[in-house]
Amino acid sequence: VLVEREQGLLTLRLNRPDKKNALTRTMYAGLAEALSQAERDSDVRAVLLTGGTECFTSGNDVADFIQAPPTGPDSEVFRFMRTLFDFAKPIVAAVSGPAVGIGTTLLLHCDLVYVSRDARLKMPFVSLGLCPEFGSSLILPRLLGHARAAELLLLGEAFGGEQAVAWGIANQVLDDGAATLAKAREMALGFQRLAPTAVLDGKRLMRAPGREELRRVIEEEGALFGQRLRSPEAIEALSAFMQRRPADFSRFA
Ligand code: COA
Repeated sequence: VLVEREQGLLTLRLNRPDKKNALTRTMYAGLAEALSQAERDSDVRAVLLTGGTECFTSGNDVADFIQAPPTGPDSEVFRFMRTLFDFAKPIVAAVSGPAVGIGTTLLLHCDLVYVSRDARLKMPFVSLGLCPEFGSSLILPRLLGHARAAELLLLGEAFGGEQAVAWGIANQVLDDGAATLAKAREMALGFQRLAPTAVLDGKRLMRAPGREELRRVIEEEGALFGQRLRSPEAIEALSAFMQRRPADFSRFA
């Protein structure tokens, strides 16, 4: 994760292009640490999260899921989720190319989201023998209705940048990765001109309704996710991804 500072804007760039920015435990720890520092540093007015101009992230590193699944609430991934969930300052995301798994669900916890036309968002948790995470099982049915959310969360259907805007998951679609990053940066820099405490108060009020319920759901999803990662169904699906073959769930019928 590359951390850059420009005036009051902290940019966190996922930078593992050979693995499509798949998130390792070290990267989650780096993101959580950078967010915690940004929270404490009063000169930081906003954070920009990006994967660069080609790819946002292919989600959790699948090899990590197999070899070193999270063991409990203190695991790096859950610490990252809690830090983002509790982050008080505005966070802006610039999304190009694939945004898989947590690459899509984390957007539900950002304040402004800009997507490129080629963005491809996908939450294939159930297809991987897993379950929805990071509050998506609560937020998406409320935002989209159960039927549409079921297409995304149970069938794992992918959707594009324009659809993300139409559904209220993103603010605006831009032509390509460079334009997306430029727009997100411009909007994030805009927070510097605003009254900082008023911005924090505004965000806190907007996030307050239903917050404790959402926190509980995230914990429940996390506990089940940890169990499912160790299930034969998930082991088959994750191994199939690594072996570049379709998963075969026929023996689980
Ligand atoms: N974890 C680990 N490695 C990953 C990965 C992940 N989440 N996503 C991609 N990679 C690796 C691939 O194994 C490949 O490695 P290799 O070059 O050593 O063989 C490399 O990144 C490039 O990926 P590839 O699939 O060849 O690129 P693509 O452009 O055809 O497809 C994606 C890109 C993101 C659409 C595809 O990799 C994908 O669907 N990944 C999703 C993984 C996933 O299900 N994540 C969700 C976890 S909840």
